[in-house]
Amino acid sequence: MREAIDRYSGVSILLHWLIAALLIANVVIAFTMEDMPGLFVWHKSIGISVLLLTLVRIVWRLTHPWPPLPEGIAPWERATARLTHVGFYMLLIMVPLLGWATVSAGSRGTGTLLGGIPWFDLPVGTSRDLQGAFGEAHELAAFLTLALVALHVAGALKHHFVDRNGLLRRMLPGR
Ligand code: HEM
Ligand code: HEM
Repeated sequence: MREAIDRYSGVSILLHWLIAALLIANVVIAFTMEDMPGLFVWHKSIGISVLLLTLVRIVWRLTHPWPPLPEGIAPWERATARLTHVGFYMLLIMVPLLGWATVSAGSRGTGTLLGGIPWFDLPVGTSRDLQGAFGEAHELAAFLTLALVALHVAGALKHHFVDRNGLLRRMLPGR
């Protein structure tokens, strides 16, 4: 028999907030690194970390129980939440992959990550055009992710302050 749980597991909560913080930090860095080239190694390293953490998170999500949405949530809200969450998982893979493809297509390659960790290139070939196209796609996918974050946070706050249904607490540490 499967145990009915009413909140996310500690691992899910940790990964949710860690990845959220890294994602936001990397967006801030993305817009600062033009003026501070030393930040680029942080952008690459944080981005690759988001990729790896998201793979762990997806495996965890598929192999562990999660709390079903409570009664009284409208069908359109369930559908929106599901689309948003699946969209997040896809984008949290695609955004770093496209960034990585961008540097892989460049003549200098991915180079090293923080701490001098050597990192390999994706086998995409080297070309200016390809690099430009991947760069555009990377940026677009990052903006799409931010749009989903806005929708997601609006939903979380609506459930907390308007519906007061305790949904936010399912994803908060403690008790
Ligand atoms: C959480 C993951 C990531 C996010 C949210 C993110 C976000 C962004 C954003 C918003 C920009 C546009 C900055 C601007 O318009 O000035 C950007 C640019 C860039 N990012 Fe990322 N990035 C991520 C991961 C990566 C990774 C893993 C790499 C490489 C290993 C990378 C390489 C780049 C490069 C090369 C650019 C410049 C692209 C160009 O202008 O053609 N990013 N990133
Ligand atoms: C900033 C980047 C964020 C990303 C990428 C993100 C991503 C996700 C994903 C993928 C899920 C689904 C978990 C599952 O597999 O069931 C989720 C759930 C959740 N997130 Fe976020 N999140 C972010 C920020 C936030 C913020 C700022 C809040 C609060 C204001 C929040 C509140 C929640 C809550 C309450 C749930 C659980 C919903 C439920 O009970 O089913 N998230 N998030």
